[in-house]
Amino acid sequence: MRRRQKLNLIEHVSSKEKKLLYASKLFQTIAPRYDFITAFLSYGMDKRWKRRLITMAGASEGETALDIACGTGDITFAIARRLSGGLAAGLDLTQAMLDIAEQKRKKTAAGNVAFHRADIMRMPFADETFDCVTGGYALRNVPDIAGALAEIKRVLRPGGRLFSLDFGHPRNGLYRSLYLKYLTVAGSALGLALHGDADTYRYIAETLKRYPGQRGVMALMTEAGFAQTGVHEFGGGIMAINYGVKP
Ligand SMILES: C[S@@+](CC[C@H](N)C(=O)[O-])C[C@H]1O[C@@H](n2cnc3c(N)ncnc32)[C@H](O)[C@@H]1O
Repeated sequence: MRRRQKLNLIEHVSSKEKKLLYASKLFQTIAPRYDFITAFLSYGMDKRWKRRLITMAGASEGETALDIACGTGDITFAIARRLSGGLAAGLDLTQAMLDIAEQKRKKTAAGNVAFHRADIMRMPFADETFDCVTGGYALRNVPDIAGALAEIKRVLRPGGRLFSLDFGHPRNGLYRSLYLKYLTVAGSALGLALHGDADTYRYIAETLKRYPGQRGVMALMTEAGFAQTGVHEFGGGIMAINYGVKP
């Protein structure tokens, strides 16, 4: 029996050209367990962080919203409920994640939600389409954050807001290295237990090491031309929401 060739984690997350392929294969594999794993690895705090993101995004009646890297869609649905009459789009690279989002959409009969399969770096939307863009664990996955921010800015209307939740870099060096070690060990153990492959969730730690963190993302947002940029942190910076407005 032929075994499928395993992609090398470090080689792929370190490469702008190869990261997209790795992310799409990884999320295709973990999609059926994604919601459970997210709750488990965050000790149930993921829901609280996302609630905060949704409150801060302040989406309101009649607005048009986009949730990038929407995965199984929980942020998309929560935003859509606030739009009454407005439309919410969820965009993701991975069909298996979108299939679960679509099943949820059918169950909840969310008529103002549509899902799109596409890369954040090249979104199938006209310029100035959205009042608000949200992303939960989105920017850490893309091969080029500056390019993604330019693309997000393109699809936002003037005055439109971006809110991005992701793992962060605590300022304290010791805390930061302990946090990365925890993510490596816990992720490897869980990957081995569930998929027979330690790299499956070690992906989080390895992408976080290469991610500029909340202060780096804020600088990139300012460089990309966003105004009123800022950061809201949780737990001493282990998690953060970056935000800004398109002038
Ligand atoms: C950790 S999940 C986040 C899902 C959801 N936003 C949440 O908060 O639970 C990351 C998602 O990013 C998607 N993704 C990774 N790279 C992407 C890209 N370049 N364009 C669009 N989606 C991407 C993956 O398919 C995956 O569904």
